[in-house]
Amino acid sequence: MDIIQVTNLTKEFKTYNVKNGFLGAIAGAISRKAAFTKAIDNINFTINKGEFVGYVGENGAGKSTTIKILTGILVPTSGEALVNNLVPYKNRRKNAMKIGVVFGQRTQLWWDLAVRESFDLLKSIYRIPEDRFKKNIKHFYDILSIDKYLDIPVRKLSLGQRMRCDLAASLLHDPEVLFLDEPTIGLDVVAKDAIRQFLKEINEKKSTTIILTTHDMMDIEHLCERIIILDEGKIISDGSTDLLKKNYGQHRVMEIEFQDEFSGLSGIKDIKLLREESCKKWIRFNGSDLSASDVISKIAIKYQIKDLSIQEPTVEDIIKSIYNNR
Ligand SMILES: Nc1ncnc2c1ncn2[C@@H]1O[C@H](COP(=O)(O)OP(=O)(O)OP(=O)(O)O)[C@@H](O)[C@H]1O
Ligand SMILES: [Mg+2]
Repeated sequence: MDIIQVTNLTKEFKTYNVKNGFLGAIAGAISRKAAFTKAIDNINFTINKGEFVGYVGENGAGKSTTIKILTGILVPTSGEALVNNLVPYKNRRKNAMKIGVVFGQRTQLWWDLAVRESFDLLKSIYRIPEDRFKKNIKHFYDILSIDKYLDIPVRKLSLGQRMRCDLAASLLHDPEVLFLDEPTIGLDVVAKDAIRQFLKEINEKKSTTIILTTHDMMDIEHLCERIIILDEGKIISDGSTDLLKKNYGQHRVMEIEFQDEFSGLSGIKDIKLLREESCKKWIRFNGSDLSASDVISKIAIKYQIKDLSIQEPTVEDIIKSIYNNR
């Protein structure tokens, strides 16, 4: 069953060109010129119950705008978005009872309240039955290890601590859909890992449908079985992560460590230099045109190789090449 249906969805923002400075502002107030930004441009997709979808794209691609429409914060310019068969902005309350939202950039919790008090407030807002509340809280304490800072006001928590609490808060009422807008932004590897494991478990055990936007492709690689790629408000790719890997799977990335530092390699035919870091270089070649031994011999003629390894393309590599080919 489709839990989310997005049909010909477009969102335009009206902005005004205001000239710089005070006089410009006055002039601007007299003759403001309206301009329109199409943040989302006629997009279509459906999401099934239980899917874990990565929603990716460069800065300004329209990810947050989509999430805001799906959570009822924004009204679309045209087209339709349905979540649980509800139009989110028309049924904000009803929709809110069935969804959870985390915006990594700002907390949904009450700044001056202790975490425990925030949770209690949410319990009454969402009318969560006592037994379910207790069960969920205990579960979240255990796997997110947040029990240590329950009595601390939210404003005093570190970013990673706060994010764990935000996540727990968004799931207290067992929502069917969870929207995550950059939930791992600014977190260290340990916190990221804890959050990833938590999300995986929620998705698998509770069949919570999850839509995740992030700039961290490792999040996507670890979690999402499907990836929707957005570019300037348009969907340029939508499909399973496995299929994406298969289609772009000819690419191989070779990590080579050389004896000495040098600035060569980019001149060698049929290989592309991706990255370099002192004596290490990462190159890409097409596995159907060239074998790894061809590549190694081409390089070894000129340079002394100390160590090397060959990697399958990462989701990050694949998405980069989709962007480059657009
Ligand atoms: N309230 C607004 N008023 C005017 N323009 C807006 C508004 N909100 C977003 N935009 C514009 O819409 C476009 C899409 O913005 P959006 O925040 O959805 O991007 P994003 O994909 O979430 O980017 P990021 O990765 O930087 O978070 C951008 O060009 C942005 O400037
Ligand atoms: Mg955003």
